Amino acid sequence: MAYGFLDIASTPSVKAAQAENGSLDLWTKAGANRTFDRFTEAEAAFIAGRDSFYMATVSETGWPYVQHRGGPAGFVKVLDDKTLGFADFKGNRQYISLGNLKADDRVSLFLMDYPRRARLKIFARAEIRDLSSDPDLAERLALPGYKARVERAMLFHLEAFDWNCPQHITPRFTEAEIAEAVAPIRARLAEIEAENAALRAKLADGAR
Ligand SMILES: Cc1cc2nc3c(=O)[nH]c(=O)nc-3n(C[C@H](O)[C@H](O)[C@H](O)COP(=O)(O)O)c2cc1C
Repeated sequence: MAYGFLDIASTPSVKAAQAENGSLDLWTKAGANRTFDRFTEAEAAFIAGRDSFYMATVSETGWPYVQHRGGPAGFVKVLDDKTLGFADFKGNRQYISLGNLKADDRVSLFLMDYPRRARLKIFARAEIRDLSSDPDLAERLALPGYKARVERAMLFHLEAFDWNCPQHITPRFTEAEIAEAVAPIRARLAEIEAENAALRAKLADGAR
């Protein structure tokens, strides 16, 4: 059965909170719970541009745990319209997310595009794969030239996603994005400096 993000998120206590705060009707009326259970081109393009995301797992003791995953832009691959995958790098060897996933495969993913002030949230079930025995998957998740030791593949089987509004997102830019934006200013500055140097040289000649 196709279902929406709020079918998962709206637990009884969430519904009670909505009722207490007067928004239960807002989120139960027809069409409010949009069904987003297959990635479209819009999500694929958004995911292809990301260089990081946040992943929440659930511990056996019920604690939520959030960790950051990063890589070159596009390191999370849309394998099909229900599946994401990425190469998980060696880190501090605490293996908290990995251990949590062995007990409970549910994840909540949070992907941010700060410059465009957009955010995508995803409910999925994770699957851990050994890349050494799966060359096809290894090729699909490969990141040529990126310096990191890959320990495993993580696949995410989509349950539902939803987009959030841009409210309260401060635009932030990477070094590469800033370098691109200021490139014309740098070029103009270099021109002006060269012109200034030439004028100073002329002045010095005239003073002799
Ligand atoms: C040498 C090294 C040291 C790290 N130290 C930390 C750390 O102290 N705290 C942290 O949150 N992440 C640290 N990281 C990043 C995490 O290891 C990485 O995000 C990893 O995927 C965490 O997974 P986990 O939190 O699910 O165990 C370190 C990574 C490396 C390579």
